[in-house]
Amino acid sequence: MTRRRLVLGMVQLILSVLLAYPYARLLHADPVSLTGLKCEYKTNPLGMDVTQPRLSWQVLSSERGWLQSAYQIRVAQSPAALSQGAELLWDTGKVASPESVQRTYAGPGLQSGKRYYWQVRVWDAQDRPSTWSETAWWEMGLLTPSDWQTSWIEPDFNEDAAKSNPSPMLRREFEVRNEVKSARAYVTSDGLYEMYLNGRRVGDEVFTPGWTSYDDHIQYQSYDITAQVQKGKNAVGVILGDGWYRGYLAFSGQRNTYGNKLALLAQIRLTYADGSSQVIGSDQSWKAATGPILMSDIYNGETYDARLEKKGWSSPGYDDAAWAGVRLANHPKSNLVAPAGPPVRRIQELRPVKISRAPAGETVVDMGQNMVGWVRLRVSGPAGTTVTLRHAEVLDKAGNFYTENLRVAKQTIEYTLKGEGVDVFEPHFTFQGFRYVKVQGFPTELTLDNLTGIVVHSDITPAGTFECSNPMINQLQHNIQWGQNGNFVDVPTDCPQRDERLGWTGDAQAFARTASFNADVAAFYTKWLKDMAADQKPSGAIPHVIPNVLDRKDPAKNTASAGWADASVIVPWTVYLSYGDTRILERQYGSMKGWVDFMAKRAGDSYLWNNDFTYGDWLAFATNRSDYPGATTDKDLVSQAYFARSTDLLQKTAALLGKSEEASKYAGLLSNIKKTFNAEFVTPSGRLASNTQTAYSLALAFDLLPENLRAQAAGRLAEDVRKFKHITTGFLGAPLICRVLSDYGYFDEAFMLLNRKEYPSWLYPITKGATTIWERWDGIKPDDSFQDKGMNSFNHYAYGAIGEWLYGVVAGIEIDPQKPGYKHIIVQPHTGGELNFAKASHQSLYGSVAAGWELKDGQLHVTVEIPANTTATVKLPQARLERILESGQPLANTKGIIRSSQDGQAAAVEVGSGRYDFTYPMEQSARK
Ligand code: BGC
Repeated sequence: MTRRRLVLGMVQLILSVLLAYPYARLLHADPVSLTGLKCEYKTNPLGMDVTQPRLSWQVLSSERGWLQSAYQIRVAQSPAALSQGAELLWDTGKVASPESVQRTYAGPGLQSGKRYYWQVRVWDAQDRPSTWSETAWWEMGLLTPSDWQTSWIEPDFNEDAAKSNPSPMLRREFEVRNEVKSARAYVTSDGLYEMYLNGRRVGDEVFTPGWTSYDDHIQYQSYDITAQVQKGKNAVGVILGDGWYRGYLAFSGQRNTYGNKLALLAQIRLTYADGSSQVIGSDQSWKAATGPILMSDIYNGETYDARLEKKGWSSPGYDDAAWAGVRLANHPKSNLVAPAGPPVRRIQELRPVKISRAPAGETVVDMGQNMVGWVRLRVSGPAGTTVTLRHAEVLDKAGNFYTENLRVAKQTIEYTLKGEGVDVFEPHFTFQGFRYVKVQGFPTELTLDNLTGIVVHSDITPAGTFECSNPMINQLQHNIQWGQNGNFVDVPTDCPQRDERLGWTGDAQAFARTASFNADVAAFYTKWLKDMAADQKPSGAIPHVIPNVLDRKDPAKNTASAGWADASVIVPWTVYLSYGDTRILERQYGSMKGWVDFMAKRAGDSYLWNNDFTYGDWLAFATNRSDYPGATTDKDLVSQAYFARSTDLLQKTAALLGKSEEASKYAGLLSNIKKTFNAEFVTPSGRLASNTQTAYSLALAFDLLPENLRAQAAGRLAEDVRKFKHITTGFLGAPLICRVLSDYGYFDEAFMLLNRKEYPSWLYPITKGATTIWERWDGIKPDDSFQDKGMNSFNHYAYGAIGEWLYGVVAGIEIDPQKPGYKHIIVQPHTGGELNFAKASHQSLYGSVAAGWELKDGQLHVTVEIPANTTATVKLPQARLERILESGQPLANTKGIIRSSQDGQAAAVEVGSGRYDFTYPMEQSARK
């Protein structure tokens, strides 16, 4: 054989192997596979207390148009039983149903501490079964107070609760007698805790047990510690921190909000190989001391003296003879709940981009991104050296470190070295909102390796992407996502840096839809909404912040603002739309109704709700000009609009839940509210009492005007936008304006608002270097001076609510409210704004949804991805049906297309699951 033939032969062989491999796989592979098994939105959750959990799965199919006709779920108490299909706890049998998400477990009662294994199989439209899915599981936590066989304990030493105190450390040792089959730790605290076992941290969650309405319920965590316990001697140690419980909270220097003593409740359960078990828990045998954490506070930071570390304190054999004891504390156990939401974790690390000397002489490290979390410090130097890190979001005009907008939050870490080689330090019970770090007292030359940014937030799974041909809009999307992450720290906060960081309801409702595009937030909101119901006033009023730390001691005080309190209705509705979750509506129904009834009662027979405090269209565009002071929308108009909005969503909810009497009662109320709105705020020719962008946006988005006045109202809105050439809205108008403009065909005006770079606009902050969304349109003014230091956060997500328009209108992925949760998807891309392309994707409960378009050579290319077991209506703009090709073929020849029709200037194509690639020459638009 010649050399040439040998080489050719080898090339052929390699090619044939490469080519054959995927075919062989395709030939033998199952046409469908099941994946993404979730229980209550979580993958294999450990420590649940939902007694009828809902199960979801995703189907992957290489075929277009895949639909489920039936499913079967089976549940067993061991993987072996499950795979043999024997001794099943629950077997649904074959259930004829197209539903593949939120299937409710309806087997025998679930027991504390037990693990349940499950799997599912499905049948397609031709009644062909899939194979069984992989096994998934969930495990129950402690379901009743009597499952806690231990006591709450507190350190037995005195503290001065008027100020921050050193963090208590608690420990005890225990003996493991035998081979352990499984071990669990169930833990909670008044305050925050970190648990250690045999010298190692238990779990990777931070800020446990999380922040809830502590007066009503406190979360406990469940940990699998099987691999961490050892035969013979063991030690458990817990550090407690002030946290939200007794640290500084809210803006008036308040402390000890929920109590002034930190406490621990912990229970370790060992199950031995021989079937016996042993419980070790918090009891009087624990010892307590203080150590290196001299102060740790959410707003103020941490003071840590490494010389005071107690080496080996959480390992067996440590001498704790000098430690104090503990006292039993008589706290309830009936208020303990398993976490519904995701834990807060360290999510990402950032390497700083620059170290510089500010004009004032300070050493400042730039993380390159406004972030939330803390800095990991690496330092070596003599024992007793103190390094101070101060955190800030921005530098001032001169380039100096700027902290005035933090108000009294110190955001300062003071670390005193122990001086043994390299000290590596991360703080424990505090977080900072910052891009810049001022470093003082660093003992050697500071390098980029000495500081690492640790990004910390609720572990919400990223679910959305948006990208287009304008890099500034892509930066806007980046800023929206970073704004979301930094403010999803166990509760949806307004900001992460100043002495606030509270669960402001208005910000949350404005941003909820955008949030649920960017990430899987169902479980996160489920947790928070429980707090909302718990903190609702007896009158039905919803406090401004949840958990309510502003006036919780005053049940008779009815603080509630339009557009804020409505979060109690709008957020559950958003979770329903985005995830098809009807249980959240059932669970929140009482709270939703309470809020609407409150407004109805206050309005009385007039149906005009205008007699309570309200924030109105917060932070709307304002000027010093005498001829145009700014866009102030009458607060009464805003209140009435939200009164209608919540009543509308409540009547829809009542109808959905089969409460037909209440549905018609609230439909009646709604019609009176609207009548009053029109009588009070609309002239006969359709001008609104406030001739502002927000007023028209509210009236149209909430459907408050009679049919005959709508188009002209939209015209007035568009006219106003053209007149000012910029947005004038505040928190309440901003989420709606582009949507209303585009709904009425004013795409040019909507894109003009989006593309504008001068103040006020969404892109203006980017021209000033923003990497997150700002609280104000002009946090940094055009002359580089700052807005009012009393309220100037550079990480506030509310204005990021434009995200839902990018995703839903520009890229064009919309939820069909008739089949929510993406069971039926509306894909309706819109070109414009001088963009050449735009695309978005979203991980729905069914799987990946994607839509995108690109203009090339006069042709529009639209790509669509629809997950198995869903369908979509694709509305192709400016298209003639007969000129559309899909993957190069006329529509008639295309598999997966259910039907198609010409719908005015658009073509409507109904498709089943799969990927589609449409191409057509765009017709001239008739409008305008
Ligand atoms: C918060 C807001 C909030 C507002 C209500 C501010 O202090 O940061 O985002 O919605 O107060 O007025």
